[in-house]
Amino acid sequence: MSKWGLFLEALRSGLMRRELQSEAWVLNAVENSISHIDLSDPGKPVVTSTIKLDDPTPAPFKRGRIAFNNASASSTKTFSCASCHPDGHTDQLLWVLKTPIVSGGSQIQPRSTMPLRGLRDTAPFHWDGIPGDPYGGNNSANVRGHSPPNVDGSSPDNAIRNVVDGALKSTMALGDSATGNGDLLDRNERYYMSRFLLAIPYPPAQKRAFTNVLSKRAVDGFELFHIKGNHEGKPQPNVCGDCHRMPFLVSTNTPGSGMDAPTWRGAYDRFLILPQGRLNIIDFDFYRNIAEKGIPEKDLWRLSWRSKPRFDPIWEMVLEGSTGYSGTFARQLTLNRKTANQRLALELLPALEASAAEEAIVLQVEALLDGKRHDSAISKEVTISKLIKAARASPANNSLVTPKKGNF
Ligand code: HEC
Ligand code: HEC
Repeated sequence: MSKWGLFLEALRSGLMRRELQSEAWVLNAVENSISHIDLSDPGKPVVTSTIKLDDPTPAPFKRGRIAFNNASASSTKTFSCASCHPDGHTDQLLWVLKTPIVSGGSQIQPRSTMPLRGLRDTAPFHWDGIPGDPYGGNNSANVRGHSPPNVDGSSPDNAIRNVVDGALKSTMALGDSATGNGDLLDRNERYYMSRFLLAIPYPPAQKRAFTNVLSKRAVDGFELFHIKGNHEGKPQPNVCGDCHRMPFLVSTNTPGSGMDAPTWRGAYDRFLILPQGRLNIIDFDFYRNIAEKGIPEKDLWRLSWRSKPRFDPIWEMVLEGSTGYSGTFARQLTLNRKTANQRLALELLPALEASAAEEAIVLQVEALLDGKRHDSAISKEVTISKLIKAARASPANNSLVTPKKGNF
């Protein structure tokens, strides 16, 4: 029986016997397996067997992901990094971590959890810009001074490893129960977790066109954000891009505060903003009105440009700006008698071919030509361009064109 068949079988028998409540089937999502649990003694559940499912995830990434989701990473064994950063994102909550006191204060400030997507090349980390700092300079604990770098900047691995070790020593440890020297997760697990963290991507930009051409409004947004700035009643406009700087929309060592300017990538995917969520306070009428609508992200982020309509096109910058994927990524096209001459096909197909030629995506074609099935992922003798040419010449044959993966 195929693994899929086994799974269905497992599910079926699991469901059938659930009335007896003596057993359970559990999908282990991170390991990608299914376990059968014997519950005849509910106080002592026993794993009787585990079915491993096919998993194309590269091994180092998977090992790191397991460490990231592992509750053994906390001294109480009750939570993991993923508890606050589900799927590498943010829980959209405020926490008081054991972080340095901001200069001038007497207590640690609460902080909103940051997303862990796109960490590569955005060191140093945390709102305060202290952990994993390859540059040195001021930071929130040393606003007017100059701290030396605390990691060697020759590789992004060093900066991220610094945060991993730091979090295991503080956030994950009750009191001073962990020293951070391997008592919570060993060297290997820390290494793979760092690899995993550096590889967490942003999802493809929500509204990027498959031609990779920005809409006029998004171009206006880029210009407003990076060149013209927002009018805020001062002699000089506030040019966001001076600090939320291209290409990743981040910068460090902000004069006067030592804070890190966070990225705007994925802004459409989180509604708690600013290091202390100071706008997301239900007692503010302006926030209550937005909350009652379900907190549409755009409405919330608009507050940061004082809700000025002139500046609104920067939202299109966010929706269309690259997060690392070509706009052709994950598009799919069926060519047949009906679709071959439709405008969408005529525009999408050359865009897919151009992206594939630039190696921004890997294109896969499945075609039925003269009754014979071809799959570019399997057969090497038929090239993609031949298949597409044949499908174009004879659209009665069916072809499916699918970009599989890639970077931009
Ligand atoms: C209790 C909730 C919580 C847990 C558990 C947690 N974090 Fe965080 N994480 C946060 C908060 C809050 C911040 C922002 C901290 C700050 O700026 O002071 C943060 C920030 C980060 C950042 C900075 C991201 C950036 O863009 O600068 C990284 C990296 C990170 N965490 C990694 C981890 C790792 C690795 C673990 C597990 C070893 C972990 N976190 C466990 C709440 C948590
Ligand atoms: C002088 C540098 C600087 C400029 C210019 C700047 N910012 Fe920021 N921004 C920061 C820093 C630093 C932070 C981190 C939080 C803080 O200091 O409050 C931040 C945080 C933010 C956040 C929170 C993001 C999140 O992930 O929660 C928003 C929203 C924001 N800025 C909007 C803007 C807008 C809109 C403009 C332009 C009109 C702008 N900023 C211009 C430095 C800057």
